Amino acid sequence: MIDVTRHKQQLRDYFDGDGFRRWSAIYGDAEVSRVRRTIRVGHARMLARAEAWLLEWIGTTGRTPLAMNALDAGCGTGVFSIMLAQHGMQVTAVDIAPQMVAAAADRARAAGVAQRVTFTAGDIEDVQGSFDVVACFDVLIHYPQPAFDQLLSHLAQCTCGLLLFTYAPYEPLLAAMHWIGGFFPRAHRRTEIQMIRENDVRHTVARHGLRVGRIEPIRSGFYHVNLVEATRE
Ligand SMILES: C[S@@+](CC[C@H](N)C(=O)[O-])C[C@H]1O[C@@H](n2cnc3c(N)ncnc32)[C@H](O)[C@@H]1O
Repeated sequence: MIDVTRHKQQLRDYFDGDGFRRWSAIYGDAEVSRVRRTIRVGHARMLARAEAWLLEWIGTTGRTPLAMNALDAGCGTGVFSIMLAQHGMQVTAVDIAPQMVAAAADRARAAGVAQRVTFTAGDIEDVQGSFDVVACFDVLIHYPQPAFDQLLSHLAQCTCGLLLFTYAPYEPLLAAMHWIGGFFPRAHRRTEIQMIRENDVRHTVARHGLRVGRIEPIRSGFYHVNLVEATRE
């Protein structure tokens, strides 16, 4: 079993250093390698789908987004936080890597929505409060069980309306490749993606009183996640 505190520290160090350079390039518009381009395209497709689901959900509530609050958990460079703020929501954006938070705050200022977003460098599990919308994209893919369950439980508890998140689905062929990859020296491996079974996701969400709606695979080259919507009724 992993030491969750140590695992988070490793992720923080990675996303505050090499990972920041790698991912901010992917989430930006500078020239990147072919492999990274497939990730950029997949990520953009996933966010567009999430935004469509968000707008559908807002429509069902009969409320205005101007009166809603949102949490972007593991906000990275703030792409989705800014989108939430552009729809008029009051946004709390949290990321464990200070460099990510600083870049996100710069982007929010440039987009003219800084007054609607509160940025904090910290751990998702330290966030307190209740949010109409909770988004957590491409963060849980870095957590194996039981840390995955722990983080998703916390996010579900913070949600009073809509929870949107991604996870890396369990696939036997990929699992075998990861297992073989485990025999290679660590330096030869990329960021590890942690695959989770759909039943685990459903159980965790249901345990906290949310109803799972759509689960949609988003695939583009090396980008491979399931997007999930869950709501509190
Ligand atoms: C691959 S990036 C995704 C960024 C953003 N959600 C997006 O989709 O554009 C993963 C982010 O999760 C953050 N992260 C990982 N574990 C975290 C935790 N426990 N609390 C807060 N942020 C975390 C990392 O620092 C990194 O910025």
